Amino acid sequence: MALVDYITNKPIIKTDRLTLRPMCKNDIPDLREWMSDESLYTYWGKKPSKSEKNPELLFEKTEKPTKSFHLGIEESASGKVVGDIWVYLIENDRMASVALRIAHDYQRKGYGTEALSAMTRFCFEKTELKRLWTKVDVRNTASQKMLEKCGYIREGLIRQGKMVNTWCDYYIYAILSSDLKD
Ligand SMILES: CC(C)(COP(=O)(O)OP(=O)(O)OC[C@H]1O[C@@H](n2cnc3c(N)ncnc32)[C@H](O)[C@@H]1OP(=O)(O)O)[C@@H](O)C(=O)NCCC(=O)NCCS
Repeated sequence: MALVDYITNKPIIKTDRLTLRPMCKNDIPDLREWMSDESLYTYWGKKPSKSEKNPELLFEKTEKPTKSFHLGIEESASGKVVGDIWVYLIENDRMASVALRIAHDYQRKGYGTEALSAMTRFCFEKTELKRLWTKVDVRNTASQKMLEKCGYIREGLIRQGKMVNTWCDYYIYAILSSDLKD
């Protein structure tokens, strides 16, 4: 399989406790519980958007088909969508950015690490991607720990760079397909 094969058929990725899968209108009540929580955006570089405050808006427009992924993170035990994860800014099918968030009440259970590890493995094993990377605010220790647990390497510090809509000091974290252990 290659990225092009997932343009219309987005992947479903299962882990011990989670399923990463496309979201649908049935998920709106779950998303309403956490998507507008401002604490999720402290180091995200922006405030919740109109559609994050009103998740029904997310499903009003048909999205243009792209190679990017935006999947919900479903907790198997409850069947609830407790977070979401992106693989985006894909360049030449070789490099892409990752981002994810986990609802406050479901944090510190290892879900972030479990979701990101599974998505990373999927990208390197089932697509042509060779490098995944992200920007992390230097104050976002939760994200740094999670990325390091998933094998991402801190490559450098950007001073007062642009993070979505704000300017801050941030680290670049990245992992190469060749870094992945069996
Ligand atoms: C970053 C985030 C996804 C981590 O999700 P999570 O499910 O809580 O992560 P995990 O439970 O897998 O924890 C990973 C590590 O971070 C640590 N950690 C989690 N939250 C923490 C916090 N608030 N402060 C310090 N360490 C924290 C955990 O203890 C764990 O380390 P350990 O195994 O050594 O104890 C979550 O905090 C979040 O959604 N934050 C807001 C959005 C965001 O900043 N996303 C990152 C953008 S890339």
